[in-house]
Amino acid sequence: MTSAPRTRVLTGITTTGTPHLGNYVGAIRPTVQASRDTSTDGFYFLADYHALIKCDDPARIQRSTMEIAASWIAAGLDPEKVTFYRQSDIPEIPELTWFLTCVTGKGLLNRAHAYKAAMDKNHAAGNDTDADVTAGLFMYPVLMGADILMFKAHKVPVGRDQIQHIEMARDMASSFNHLYGEHFVLPEAVVEESVALLPGLDGRKMSKSYDNTIPLFATSAQLRKLIMGIVTDSKAPGEAKDTEGSALFQIYQAFASAQETADLAKAYAEGIAWGDAKQLLFERIDREVAPMRETYEALINNPAELDRILLAGADKARSLATPFMREVRHAVGLRPLASATPTITGAPEDKPALSSFKQYRETDGLFYFKLVTPKGQVLLQSTGFSAPREAGQWIAKLQQEGAAALSQARQYLAPLSTQEEQLVLEELAKIADSKSKM
Ligand code: TRP
Repeated sequence: MTSAPRTRVLTGITTTGTPHLGNYVGAIRPTVQASRDTSTDGFYFLADYHALIKCDDPARIQRSTMEIAASWIAAGLDPEKVTFYRQSDIPEIPELTWFLTCVTGKGLLNRAHAYKAAMDKNHAAGNDTDADVTAGLFMYPVLMGADILMFKAHKVPVGRDQIQHIEMARDMASSFNHLYGEHFVLPEAVVEESVALLPGLDGRKMSKSYDNTIPLFATSAQLRKLIMGIVTDSKAPGEAKDTEGSALFQIYQAFASAQETADLAKAYAEGIAWGDAKQLLFERIDREVAPMRETYEALINNPAELDRILLAGADKARSLATPFMREVRHAVGLRPLASATPTITGAPEDKPALSSFKQYRETDGLFYFKLVTPKGQVLLQSTGFSAPREAGQWIAKLQQEGAAALSQARQYLAPLSTQEEQLVLEELAKIADSKSKM
């Protein structure tokens, strides 16, 4: 029995900071949970090339890489079950970045939110449009496209602010596929709407830029001290307190069960003293974090072990990236000169050219595919699908199952005459045949 191909899920974590409780609740915990789903094939990596765009402090880059790697493993990410690696250990990534750079419109990058925000800031300050904008910031989406497309990721879990980058990766994949044949899978962004946004010490969203964070792996004593500093109103012990708008309550909720949360709400109504509520919060968080803290500290004190884990992950990742780059290099014409090539005078290739499937998105927002001969004649035309995966799955099915798949796919295809159908079947057989020889 062959199992169904697993959905590949990939996401990157920029290595510029120390993980805090907001990162844990918003990203680490849900992602580690999702990584245990055996129907998915998880790729998680430390985006340290991306970190260089935002940070020019080498010690901080190194420290953050270590802290983030140790945090994710301590929180339960299993490097044996997923592919966990450091972006800069994959030299194929910058190579693919260049290939994608060459099919990406400069105008597309001009519209990237991060770059536009930098320009707007400069305009507002009366500076030159591109003052302090590096080409790295401008190219950020292309590097991210390479991260995603290298591993043919289907789903990319990201925050709202990153959706545009996934759309851009799709554009790059389509342009490349259109020019050079179907090499890339078009990825989809997955935005988890339900995860809690954690308030920080001052009640605003917990974020490094507000300097209001609680590090995930502070010592127990530091954790307690920071929690005691969370802002509250000045209601005295015995006075009923509002759960609404209480940062303390919201943080508690992100860690507690429904029952525990209800109990705290009751204690608020009964006028629990702020000091006691903070003590409860400290105990609740420490209960979840303490067991992970041990693993975390063991890893931080053994960076060679972290290197070993990350390099093993890079080996796994490169076992896909290296052959894939060989394919991509060949596709664009970076090939041994002695390999068979059609010359500009049109000498025949060894193999007759095959028809190929093209997947694309129309202005109606739907995803389509077609089967096109090398001369550009359209043999099959699909109707629109709402998800790119559906189109991709039909393509795979048609390639693998030929006639059987064609009759099942009929409702999604423009009608065919008997003669056209015959031609399609012949082409599908040729495609299947060439794949079996690869
Ligand atoms: N840009 C992402 C962020 O800041 C990090 C990242 C880099 C990423 N490469 C990626 C996320 C590829 C998903 C896929 O959050």
